[in-house]
Amino acid sequence: MTDSSSTPVYVRTPFGTFLNSLAVDRALAPYDVAGSIAHAEMLRASGWLSPQETSVIVSGLRLIAAEIRTGHFPWRDELEDVHTNVEVRLGELVGPAAGKLHTARSRNDQVALDERLFLRAALAQVAHRLLAVQEALLHQASAEIATPMPGYTHLQRAQPVTVGHHLLAHFWRFDRDLDRLFATVERANVSPLGAGALAGSTLKTDPAAVATRLGFDRPFANSVDAVSDRDPFAELLFDLALLAVHASGFAEEVVLFASPEFGFLDRSSSLGAGSSLMPQKRNPDAAELLRGQSGRVVGDLVALLVTLKGLPLAYDRDLQEDKAPVEDALATVGAGLVALTTLVQGLVFDHARLVAASEDPELYATDIAEHLVARGVAFRPAHEAVAAHYRTAGGRLDPAQVGEIPGADPAFGRSLTASDSLGRRSTTGGPGPLALQQQLTQARTALEGRRHSLSSLDRKVGLVEEILQEERK
Ligand code: ARG
Repeated sequence: MTDSSSTPVYVRTPFGTFLNSLAVDRALAPYDVAGSIAHAEMLRASGWLSPQETSVIVSGLRLIAAEIRTGHFPWRDELEDVHTNVEVRLGELVGPAAGKLHTARSRNDQVALDERLFLRAALAQVAHRLLAVQEALLHQASAEIATPMPGYTHLQRAQPVTVGHHLLAHFWRFDRDLDRLFATVERANVSPLGAGALAGSTLKTDPAAVATRLGFDRPFANSVDAVSDRDPFAELLFDLALLAVHASGFAEEVVLFASPEFGFLDRSSSLGAGSSLMPQKRNPDAAELLRGQSGRVVGDLVALLVTLKGLPLAYDRDLQEDKAPVEDALATVGAGLVALTTLVQGLVFDHARLVAASEDPELYATDIAEHLVARGVAFRPAHEAVAAHYRTAGGRLDPAQVGEIPGADPAFGRSLTASDSLGRRSTTGGPGPLALQQQLTQARTALEGRRHSLSSLDRKVGLVEEILQEERK
């Protein structure tokens, strides 16, 4: 499509496609074009482009945006990356004016800019999907707010909780993940454009104007830092890695609870596929994949951190390696969250099994110790008395024999049930009915706040499309 004379000299190398980043930076294309439009407008305001040249360049760039959107853009491998592909194409479309676009700009500040715009949009998409997971969890939690289940420590039955309380524990983990994503985008919302290769420019330009146009909070403070900083990507990968780890914990519980050994999930839950050999099997495949994929995402985080470790300032070509792990983690977590929402929505709890498991008298040993405390026994001796009773009873507890524990009211044995125990657990944030109602309200309010933050992020993300679509000036 192009002859070698239109291949800029800086991408002519003897390394074939080795230096090429097109496979990973094509995803930056719309952001690259929007950034170039903002840059061209700034060059006009600063006197480096005439109004005529600016309008030629900007309409050429919008044409390119349309080609990219419709799949008609002629991508060329030999042009190394998205930036050069766009610039060369602009030359073909609008002629020599295109040669002025790269004034006071380097691919170093350009790629940093593209990545920040990309990050903003990618993160908003993850946030939408995570919100859907939280909504599904909240829905299930409200339906199962009073369904008792054993709470576990060390995966041993410990004390009674409810399914709603347990699901809300997952809700709050995901809520912190969402909070982290918003904090990441807030810190990243600084424009690097104008840093040039590393030392700004001898030409007078206006990085603040570009920053404002693209919805950034401010331009960079230090040009060397601006072209080197990949903290936003590292933070995003950490956010996604922890999110994937949280999802894997949830998924593991689905796997466990779906097995007949626990039996807390009804067989009608939609968890995955069947076995090609064993006709009776219904495997929790979706949960298993979510559990397994968290490893990939943690690997992506480690890959980027190791790439960044020990790099001297300012731009180094190593930084080109930042895109693959970010794109892999986004694709993995993005698809995983959609599956997770479906998984949560499809959970059907087996109430009979949950109630039976919650009737295990062992779950109420602490209740007895605290009953003794309420009757004036110090906690440590109370703990020992109950432990001694369990030892002599062969590790079991017969509610009818509670009266044999020194200091206990024999009638207390009758209230060693899930509903009585939960009723006693009125501490804030606990599984008692009142506290749980408060928690549900808190969760709904939190979700409302997140929706609000997300819609203001969506507005910033939408700026790129607006810039690409705007009528010619
Ligand atoms: N493909 C490069 C990257 O992703 C763009 C910046 C190239 N800069 C340079 N000086 N070669 O990092």
